[in-house]
Amino acid sequence: MAGNIKLQICETADEVSVEAAKVFADIIRSIPDAVIGLATGSTPEQTYEELAKIHKSEGLSFSGVTTFNLDEYWGLNGDHDQSYRHFMNTQLFDKIDIRPWNTNVLNGAASSPSLECEAFETRILASGGIDIWLLGIGGNGHIAFNEPGSPVDSRTRLVSLSEDTIEANSDGRFFSDPAEVPRCALSAGIGTIREARKLVLLATGLKKADAIAAAVEGPFSPDCPSSLLQDHPDCTFILDQDAASKL
Ligand code: GLP
Repeated sequence: MAGNIKLQICETADEVSVEAAKVFADIIRSIPDAVIGLATGSTPEQTYEELAKIHKSEGLSFSGVTTFNLDEYWGLNGDHDQSYRHFMNTQLFDKIDIRPWNTNVLNGAASSPSLECEAFETRILASGGIDIWLLGIGGNGHIAFNEPGSPVDSRTRLVSLSEDTIEANSDGRFFSDPAEVPRCALSAGIGTIREARKLVLLATGLKKADAIAAAVEGPFSPDCPSSLLQDHPDCTFILDQDAASKL
């Protein structure tokens, strides 16, 4: 399927972050109470740094903004230094004027995963839906923690991580040993993500080139979860030269 995915190819990874931050800052300027979806991983770290810079230097206010994060490791509570709640607090929320109660990160230590996931979906609906969702991509094409095989209409749920993903997240950047990586996570579904009005996926580096080629030019198939964005009406991939090298 030749999809609708728009491509913005930048010279460097730094430029990807600057461009992505611009897109989010523009949305927040035009919709001060925007509902924003966020991602974790190494790729968006610099985008968050840029947004914090824009907040500081230009006074961009997040006081009306509500956020929803894609996913969280199952079994980690928000105080754990590898939890995605901790990541978001330290990388972004603590540096801007967002109201902590407007930040939604799934609770990896909830007593009932299904109730936690249901409540997350209900809060997205109650907020009026997501204006823009920032995404990364795994080397196997996953988005959030939707591993290959995830259905196009999947909703927020408890999922198992693939060996590839466990390996990728224990390469020293996050967990130092694969044995420490939780085997499961709570993840927004592909259906949940596809309902956002706008999607922006970031990818940098040669390690992502195959996944990007499959997402953009491969078949529309759960075998590559990110290919299931091909028919979204407003989806842009912001890539560096390396990530775009197999297109
Ligand atoms: C994890 C996250 C994804 C992220 C992916 C890639 O699996 N759940 O949301 O896109 O890692 O991360 P990185 O940017 O570190 O390559």
